[in-house]
Amino acid sequence: MCGIFGYINYLTPKSRKEILELLVNGLKRLEYRGYDSAGVAIDGPDNKDVALIKNTGKVQMLQTKIENQSADLQMEEKIETHCGIAHTRWATHGVPNEVNSHPHRSDDNHSFVIVHNGIVTNYREVKVFLQKKGYYFESDTDTEVIAKLILMFYKEHPTYSFRELVEQVVQQLEGAFALCFKSKHFPGECVATRRGSPLLVGIKTKTRLATDYVPILYGKDDTPRKSAESDNAHSEHRPHCHEKIPVLPRSESTSEFQPLEDKEVEYFFASDASAVIEHTNRVIYFEDDDVAAVKDGALSIHRLRRSLDDPHSREITTLKMELQQIMKGNYSHFMQKEIFEQPDSVVNTMRGRVNFDNMTINLGGIKDYIPEIKRCRRLMLIGCGTSYHSAIATRQLLEELTELPVMVELASDFLDRTTPVFRDDVCFFISQSGETADTLMALRYCKERGALIVGITNTVGSSICRESHCGVHINAGPEIGVASTKAYTSQFISLVMFALVMSEDRISLRQRRTEIIEGLKNLQEQIKAVLMLDGKVQELAKDLYQQKSLLIMGRGFNFATCLEGALKVKELTYMHSEGIMAGELKHGPLALIDDQMPVLMIVMRDPVYIKCMNALQQVTSREGRPILICEEGDEETSSMASKVLQVPRTVDCLQGILTVIPMQLLSYHIAMQRGCNVDCPRNLAKSVTVE
Ligand code: F6R
Repeated sequence: MCGIFGYINYLTPKSRKEILELLVNGLKRLEYRGYDSAGVAIDGPDNKDVALIKNTGKVQMLQTKIENQSADLQMEEKIETHCGIAHTRWATHGVPNEVNSHPHRSDDNHSFVIVHNGIVTNYREVKVFLQKKGYYFESDTDTEVIAKLILMFYKEHPTYSFRELVEQVVQQLEGAFALCFKSKHFPGECVATRRGSPLLVGIKTKTRLATDYVPILYGKDDTPRKSAESDNAHSEHRPHCHEKIPVLPRSESTSEFQPLEDKEVEYFFASDASAVIEHTNRVIYFEDDDVAAVKDGALSIHRLRRSLDDPHSREITTLKMELQQIMKGNYSHFMQKEIFEQPDSVVNTMRGRVNFDNMTINLGGIKDYIPEIKRCRRLMLIGCGTSYHSAIATRQLLEELTELPVMVELASDFLDRTTPVFRDDVCFFISQSGETADTLMALRYCKERGALIVGITNTVGSSICRESHCGVHINAGPEIGVASTKAYTSQFISLVMFALVMSEDRISLRQRRTEIIEGLKNLQEQIKAVLMLDGKVQELAKDLYQQKSLLIMGRGFNFATCLEGALKVKELTYMHSEGIMAGELKHGPLALIDDQMPVLMIVMRDPVYIKCMNALQQVTSREGRPILICEEGDEETSSMASKVLQVPRTVDCLQGILTVIPMQLLSYHIAMQRGCNVDCPRNLAKSVTVE
């Protein structure tokens, strides 16, 4: 949550207008990460002062404010070398208002300005410490302490480089952060760092890059340590802020490395790749505690301490993402586009993995670990929100095909319970973004206890990706709409493929595996058929949009669709909605049923059909008038309801993929009817990088 963006042009003249356009455009790409307020900091007219422009609300409102101020900003003035930083906020500390918006400043002179994604958990202590030293705070945010801290270090150590000052600052911080710093005292320079929140830099040159890596410079304390020691390195030096903050020794490796033959260079710091792809496809993903500095057009990556397994350089990777993938195309919303992409995204998830000719599955990312996984004590599937639902959706099949105990856990609750985890557990972390803080914390918790860590993510280079021992990339393509849709169906398929791999040598399961693989083969066409229901779903939405509540019931393989459907309705339409296990109906929820309560039921011809029909009878006999999702051609079931959506039949364990799509469409259309912002639901953000 929160998106940060920094742009540095070196010996590449750009007008202030162009720089602002670049920054605002970068923010627009990151807006799904938070849209409570937005802001930019650039060098003001004649480069005399830093101009800070901030506004509550979406990036578009910031853009309007910038346009209104254009007369004061000397928009056409060309600047040869410049650093600008920008931020789109999802509020954690302090209400969304202008003062609490980023960039935050160190003082009225704008000596230092910063943008931050994450939470500084020890900000109160640091704030008290700084207040005692006479620093005045204007906002309610945790971030402002960072801006004040760097000024304090600057005053105490005026000979320090910009990077060294930032290194001093991050020693004092607890929590999670990705930060970009700009300073009046270091014109044209930018320093960025991360711990726990994502950050990358895109590099654009006119000619080819001289190398495909940037070496890491280590600080004075360069003796390699064991990882465990280095993991604790921060706490060793973290002060209690009521004491004087100690200053660490200056680092010795001050020589900057110029990785580029090209003198004219542009750098794009960003929370994720979607903000840089239109400028360059060459990026470096930073690791925790990397401090990256751009000075005189050269990028250096610095680490204060070195551990034995630290590499000597950071690779410059080439992004495979296309700009088109992050554009809306002919669709009105990203969510709509992503729903309609599912015939292709599910195929992309299976591409190169499912061989329909010889009925085999190859998951390259976990292949080598399969023998170890087969020997495990249990499988644990951990995630949040929609990703958690994909685990619910596939648990039954995993139990069936692996014959292992399968636990499905919400990451936050799993951590609250300090759940026992053992070395012979295999823990799956499912996350579209790969950055969800709860999921990442749970991953680290399990890793510390020796479990095998498997990542199921959609974001190459994400923290979960990098911190897993092995994994499956779901290949759904960038998902920009805040509400997850295509990632769910691809996570679902990834877990199904895993179950198939685990049962490869089981003769008794051969027939079952064959029917599932046949089912996977037909999915693309069947999803297309479900999407043809769009018009019908839109009509249904017109009947429902004024209701206060919607109950969604089902069981067995379709229970996850009820949970996921209800989540979609809640987050997009702000209507109450609840996914109810049909087996639980008579244990309470039946009391909600009358002729007014909207109910949607999923009744497929699978092993729980009779039980679902019982639930349907219980609802209709209390004057409930359920809407049904059932199988194509099942007129007998359809006759039990006045409104029916028929979806193609597939094998029971894949049916949830076809039943969830009408729910995605329904939530989309209800939200449209209610005038809600579909791509950016209120109070939410796409990537939840705070606990
Ligand atoms: C709902 C939704 C969220 C996410 C959850 C986990 O539509 O998108 O519930 O599923 O925040 O996010 P990831 O999958 O990125 O870990």
